[in-house]
Amino acid sequence: MCGIIGYIGKREAAPIMVEGLRKLEYRGYDSAGLAVLSGGRIAVRKCSGRIQDLQSHLAENTPSGVSGISHTRWATHGPATDNNAHPHTDHSGNIALVHNGVIENYQSLRDVLEAQDHVFHSDTDSEVLAHLIGYEYYKKTEPDTQERLLDAVRAALRWVKGTYGIAVLHAELPNVMIGARLGSPLVVGLGKGENFLASDVSAIVRHTRDAIYLNDYDLVAIGPNDFDVYSLDGGAAQFEVSVVDFSEEQAELTGYPHYMLKEIYEQPESVLNAMRGRLSIEESTAVLGGLNMTAQELRTIDRIVLTGCGTASHAAMVGEYLIESLARIPAEVEISSELRYRNLPTDRDTLMFALSQSGETIDTLAAMREGQRKGHRVLGICNNVASTIARESDGGVYMHAGPEIGVAATKSFTSQVTIMTLLALTLGRMNHLSASDGKTIIDELKAVPEKIRTILKQDAQIKKIAQKYARSKGMLFLGRQFNAPIAQEAALKMKEISYIYASGHPSAELKHGIIALVSPETPCVFIAPDDSVFEKNVSNIEEVKARRGPVIAITTEGKTELERICDDVIYIPKCPDYLSPLLTIIPLQLFSYHIAVELGCDVDKPRNLAKSVTVE
Ligand code: F6R
Repeated sequence: MCGIIGYIGKREAAPIMVEGLRKLEYRGYDSAGLAVLSGGRIAVRKCSGRIQDLQSHLAENTPSGVSGISHTRWATHGPATDNNAHPHTDHSGNIALVHNGVIENYQSLRDVLEAQDHVFHSDTDSEVLAHLIGYEYYKKTEPDTQERLLDAVRAALRWVKGTYGIAVLHAELPNVMIGARLGSPLVVGLGKGENFLASDVSAIVRHTRDAIYLNDYDLVAIGPNDFDVYSLDGGAAQFEVSVVDFSEEQAELTGYPHYMLKEIYEQPESVLNAMRGRLSIEESTAVLGGLNMTAQELRTIDRIVLTGCGTASHAAMVGEYLIESLARIPAEVEISSELRYRNLPTDRDTLMFALSQSGETIDTLAAMREGQRKGHRVLGICNNVASTIARESDGGVYMHAGPEIGVAATKSFTSQVTIMTLLALTLGRMNHLSASDGKTIIDELKAVPEKIRTILKQDAQIKKIAQKYARSKGMLFLGRQFNAPIAQEAALKMKEISYIYASGHPSAELKHGIIALVSPETPCVFIAPDDSVFEKNVSNIEEVKARRGPVIAITTEGKTELERICDDVIYIPKCPDYLSPLLTIIPLQLFSYHIAVELGCDVDKPRNLAKSVTVE
């Protein structure tokens, strides 16, 4: 949450930063600001609102200079006001800082500083850090040097309890910018005669593809032509220069009105990418080299714990069904924010998976670390290959879905479910699945991308249905077995982008209370493909219809009998039960998308949200 970009080089910093902030806006969009260093002064411009508000603000008076730091905020401490926007300056006004993360002990630090006559202008925890750096810097009376600033940042960070990704400038030091990270991502972009700091490479990929992903407790000093990476406790730190593996175009809208729609349409390709090179026809299994486990080690696994948040946890829930039914290994899903504080009894042969598109979700990261602390092998299923979870996990499987920018997760979900299927197949083939079972699963899986294309062709019809229900008071999503998690995922999509209250449940739970909500204003969406529980779903649909509740059904081609009892029916191609979630979710993503558009909602940047949740 919150996006940072800093620039130091030969070009005007402000336009580069504004354009970079646009790429980071998915991380937060409550307020934005920048600080540019010029002629021994730091000029700060900031305002509440989005990057375009900052641009209008700058139109009258853009500060000129070749180094600067900037920020787009997702509010944690203090509302989205001009004063709470970053950058923040220290007591002297010479030091400016942008911060992503949370300073948990900010109040006690602020009390100490206020007792020393420091005056604060915001409610934020971040301003305290700016003052603390200034306090440490001006404790000394040496000449202004990079080392003095580095020492001050180091000393200030030792006081801090919490998480941070920061960029710091000093008015008297035009050739240096300091960055540091603990718990919030920070990348150094290496250009020619210019360097960058950013929360995410998407902000800098237009300028350079050479990047250093900082580790926790790393500090970096960058100048236009040089950089040094240090550890928080002094001395040099290890680093590696990586080449960014996606292009700027992949992160563009390319003609789509919204990233969410673009990403929904990318799913035939992203699902294919998740399985590409990972299917062995000869052995009728999947090959997941990244697991870093021998066949012998995999065979000893007797329990699997899957953890993630939000959409990733719903993909994990589908995984639970897949692993249990195809591999016959007990699997369970634990929400990361709960797991991190639980004392889950596990034994040596429990394998953990952390699912996270961004690979930066703080709760998932903490749950993973807790698992590792207990001696478990934790494998990551991430999209962002340079993310903290990807780097700290003991192995894993990349999604290769390409950048997902829409705040509502879509293609990452189907990629995660695809990988869950590959995992279940791998483990199943080591246990009771025959070669012919394995071959059937592979053949069916390979047919999925084309089936998704078929569903996407129904977009116009789905849009019409969406428009019909857009003004509903609330919505219920119901599904069973493999599609019970899809009901939850579809309800999450509906809530987060259209703000219509929705909840998802196993269909048969209706009569245990939820049916009280059914009314002509509260439609029910049944996910009822032609599977082992189709008839059960039909009975539940009848119960809703008997109470005058409108019903929209997602079912399989040929199940035309539903047209008699449902108000609207959307068809998916035939597929086995265990693959149906990869298809049923597609019309539901489109359904919530079109409802949100119909209601005039900001689909890619829903209110109060940010894509990457790096605070607890
Ligand atoms: C919902 C959504 C969130 C994320 C969740 C986990 O559309 O995007 O629920 O799924 O914040 O994010 P990652 O997968 O990055 O860990």
